[in-house]
Amino acid sequence: MPVRNTNRVLTLFKRVHMAQRLLIEQLPLLETMSPKEYQTIRLGLGAGSGQESPGFRALLAMAPHLWETYKKHYLDGQGLTVEAVYDVAYDHGDAYVVAEQLVEFDELFQNFRFHHMQLVRRSIGIDAKSLKGRPVEILESGQRHSFFPELWAVRSKMTDAWGAHYGLKRDSLGGKGGGHH
Ligand code: HEM
Repeated sequence: MPVRNTNRVLTLFKRVHMAQRLLIEQLPLLETMSPKEYQTIRLGLGAGSGQESPGFRALLAMAPHLWETYKKHYLDGQGLTVEAVYDVAYDHGDAYVVAEQLVEFDELFQNFRFHHMQLVRRSIGIDAKSLKGRPVEILESGQRHSFFPELWAVRSKMTDAWGAHYGLKRDSLGGKGGGHH
């Protein structure tokens, strides 16, 4: 099998993304429970936490390997950089398409964390004193985390470079004059 089997990468990522979406979609089911009803479940769960979930931990541990593998076979192996793939030598080739699968994974993971945080807020309340502050920190820092920061950074960099030529500053819509722009 070739080292870069892009068609298979795409098929497998499609499955992964679908599983991530299903995970997000089932969260609102728990939101149909009243806070009072949910406390019963919570007591039954004991000290266990989603943080200890083997599946969740495996995903966290896997992400750096995904990046290393992508970098090795699609970037370094091809003499490419993230900037080349997205901007300077952009041709919507394999390196771009696979990078976007990683971005999708990252975005869906963040979406899960966001919707889960909303669920926590709605069911047990995020500021509950019995949570001792730590869970809030864990959830909020998780929310800010991204697995593939370089793939996000390149967009801002491109926008800044573009903005340097045009559209950097705009008059406020309610500003004086209100003329055409
Ligand atoms: C009303 C239901 C839920 C509540 C109140 C809740 C509450 C919490 C809280 C407070 C944390 C912070 C960490 C800790 O305390 O150890 C946490 C973490 C976590 N929970 Fe839940 N959870 C709920 C449902 C779920 C569901 C349905 C899933 C999975 C499908 C899940 C997966 C996780 C994961 C993976 C973490 C670790 C998050 C991270 O590190 O970013 N939780 N949960």
